[in-house]
Amino acid sequence: MLVLGIETSCDETAAAVVDGGLSVRSSVVASQEDLHREYGGVVPEIASRAHEKAILPVVREAITRAGIVHADIDAVAVGHRPGLIGSLLVGVSAAKALAWSLGKPLIGVDHVHAHLHAAFLGATREQLDAAFPALGLVVSGGHTSMYRVESPTGLTRLGATIDDAVGEAYDKVATILGLDYPGGPALDRMAQEAGADDRGHDFPISRLGKGSLDFSFSGLKTAVLYAVRGVPGRDEPRDESSLSDQQRRDIAASFQRAASEAVRLKLGRAIAHVPGCRSLIVGGGVSANSRLRAEAGAFAGKHGLALRLPEMAYCIDNAAMIAGLGAVLIEQGETSGLGLSPVPTTAC
Ligand code: KG4
Ligand code: ZN
Repeated sequence: MLVLGIETSCDETAAAVVDGGLSVRSSVVASQEDLHREYGGVVPEIASRAHEKAILPVVREAITRAGIVHADIDAVAVGHRPGLIGSLLVGVSAAKALAWSLGKPLIGVDHVHAHLHAAFLGATREQLDAAFPALGLVVSGGHTSMYRVESPTGLTRLGATIDDAVGEAYDKVATILGLDYPGGPALDRMAQEAGADDRGHDFPISRLGKGSLDFSFSGLKTAVLYAVRGVPGRDEPRDESSLSDQQRRDIAASFQRAASEAVRLKLGRAIAHVPGCRSLIVGGGVSANSRLRAEAGAFAGKHGLALRLPEMAYCIDNAAMIAGLGAVLIEQGETSGLGLSPVPTTAC
């Protein structure tokens, strides 16, 4: 089954063709990074307008690269939640129009859930079927959550961030350090530079209540802010330009260690909530992070779990994960009617 996927929830306009839910025939992502850089974050109205310009060329490109024609498509999947409402509207409207004009089924897919499916793109059906029950971790710019994953389409949330998402903390800390937008990947690179000392600073690792499966990253972010600018009322105010390259490297590496250790700590608590756990599935933009990938590998090894991490191209927002999960949902007989609406929040 060939499914066309469409993704426009934030600042990436993406389309992809996926065969049988797992095999990616094409994946096209048009990033709007350059449009939002001068504002240091995504401006919703600019994002919607850019999606509107890009959506048809991106869909066309995905179909061409897959070596198919429109009539070969068996179904259309679209990320319809969560996200910026104006951005989602563009993708949902395009998907509805395509599904209607081709006379094919439409399926709305939850973007957060799709981030977990991204870890199976390129896998075999046997690998997918053997993965559950699993512990799922989504680490993105908007979400940081853990799940008991019972099947490719069934999951129960165990915990989530009570303030910033981990990717948001990466981006804000990168801004505090004066790194280029978007900051997560730049901070990751700096933390890996030769001589970076991840013990240079003892930043806080949030535990929350005993046994809590929730996350908190705002205290860590504030600790970095104070390390760079001085503690208000105690130190003379300063800015990042007063830091040497070595100091910046140490802060980046120490932040990255604290953020990754916070995630590992909560995974350690969550595993007891997944009886018979067979694998650890990780997805979302921060699953591209070098330290987090290494921590996830070490955790899976320690607990005897199969590790499912997305290929780098499918960590950040893409439409292949939408098409893939959409195919599995359709196989189970699920479809959405043409009344499908965008929703700002996740159902996961
Ligand atoms: O999943 P995603 O593309 O969008 C959301 O659904 O939010 O995640 C984007 C987030 C951004 O915060 C970005 O800085 C972060 O993922 N990110 C990284 C890395 N690559 C992307 N954070 C840390 N290290 C990376 N290598
Ligand atoms: Zn995402």
